[in-house]
Amino acid sequence: MKIPAVKGTRDFYPEDMAVRNWIIDGWKRVSLRNGFEEYDGPIFEYLTMFQIKSGEEIIEQLFSLKDRGGRDLALRPEITPTLARMVNQRINSLPKPIKWFSVPRLFRAERPQKGRLREFFQWNVDIIGVENGLGECRADAEVIFTTVDYLRQVGLTSEDIKVKISSRELLASYLRSLGTPEDKLESIYTVLDKKNKLPPETFAQMLGEQVADNKIVNKILDFMTVDSMPQLEELVKVKSESGEYSPYLDIRCVLDDLDMMGVGDFCVYDPSIVRGLAYYTGIVFEVHDVGGGLRAICGGGRYNNLLRDFGGPPISGTGMGMGDCVLEILLKQKGLLAKQVPKRQVDYFVTCIGAIGKEAWRVIAKLRSMGYSANFSYKMGGLSRQLKEASAQNAKKCIIIGEEELKEDKIRVKDMATGNQELVDVDEFLSKLTSA
Ligand code: HAM
Repeated sequence: MKIPAVKGTRDFYPEDMAVRNWIIDGWKRVSLRNGFEEYDGPIFEYLTMFQIKSGEEIIEQLFSLKDRGGRDLALRPEITPTLARMVNQRINSLPKPIKWFSVPRLFRAERPQKGRLREFFQWNVDIIGVENGLGECRADAEVIFTTVDYLRQVGLTSEDIKVKISSRELLASYLRSLGTPEDKLESIYTVLDKKNKLPPETFAQMLGEQVADNKIVNKILDFMTVDSMPQLEELVKVKSESGEYSPYLDIRCVLDDLDMMGVGDFCVYDPSIVRGLAYYTGIVFEVHDVGGGLRAICGGGRYNNLLRDFGGPPISGTGMGMGDCVLEILLKQKGLLAKQVPKRQVDYFVTCIGAIGKEAWRVIAKLRSMGYSANFSYKMGGLSRQLKEASAQNAKKCIIIGEEELKEDKIRVKDMATGNQELVDVDEFLSKLTSA
């Protein structure tokens, strides 16, 4: 009986593993150079953990299970609640701000589609505990900068991708100014988050179900189409009567900081970014491909109440998550994978005539113990077949152990790039090896 792989999962053959490792290594390298430290948590948590604050969409997509004691558990669909729990546990001893990153394997029972699977990897960077006010915007900007720093590193330009930035707080204050009751905000966000995923009529109809007054529906729709900062400034200035703090300033500050960091051309204000997760309270953002054919490459934002909601102090945080699926599709489309993902390579390929013998084992074992990768053929073919196998593995050098040469304790070392061969004494060659 042949058992297929479970729907929405992937098998990683060695060539797929090379891509996965290259993506994850890049995420880790960029996190470290931006000053983040790595953390991880368990793959399953109590089910309630994700029911508290993750929001409707994620709750519907949970893979849940019962342990032997009858406790309800769930495979993690995201790591942000785990992060909040872990930080709360050590809140008094951790130096702040906390700048942490993680690359968890996540599970969501989503309908599998292009760029969305049931098991995937997600790069997370989060900054927790930066003081209120302008400092917070700096942290939002740094999370976005780190995201762009990676995407630029792998060769994507501002013509390929855009970071679309908005603010839930701004949206909330606009909705309040239209008389929206506090308990309605959440359900309106859920509809607004679907704006770009639904046909306009369906979207307007769903909004109509949340907001009875047609005039207000139209005002919300107008707000959702503002696409420049001057236009936004006009609109929110009209709406704010006092000259007090306005969430508009957060967006301005984040965009200005990103400009100063030299990535302003990647970033735009876009009110259609609302985000599906329930815990966001301030700046929210997503990265999208300019072509528009793909789902979001990444998403994140500020969460001011999450730690408090998990029983900790009212310390705010901001962060983002980037999955490997859409990223890989986009990089493939742009021809950026093939030329960057390292091919299989070995330092030495040891060839010998006939079955592998004492001398070959000695050479292979010594090379490996000195830290070099060394391989050989199991096929017992002639020299040319073995050299072909060496080329297929991109060997840098080949060691040729021939019967005649061996009578004088010599071997040949062939440089596969130049084709040059050297006849050397085996013991001398092995003793002169320096650690790789
Ligand atoms: P999210 O928007 O649910 O946010 O997911 C972020 C990213 O994870 C998406 O943009 C996408 O790249 C990837 N992703 C999500 N679902 C799937 C899926 N089914 N298959 C493949 N990739 C997927 C969060 O998860 C937040 N916890 C991020 C965050 C961290 N916010 C603050 N800190």
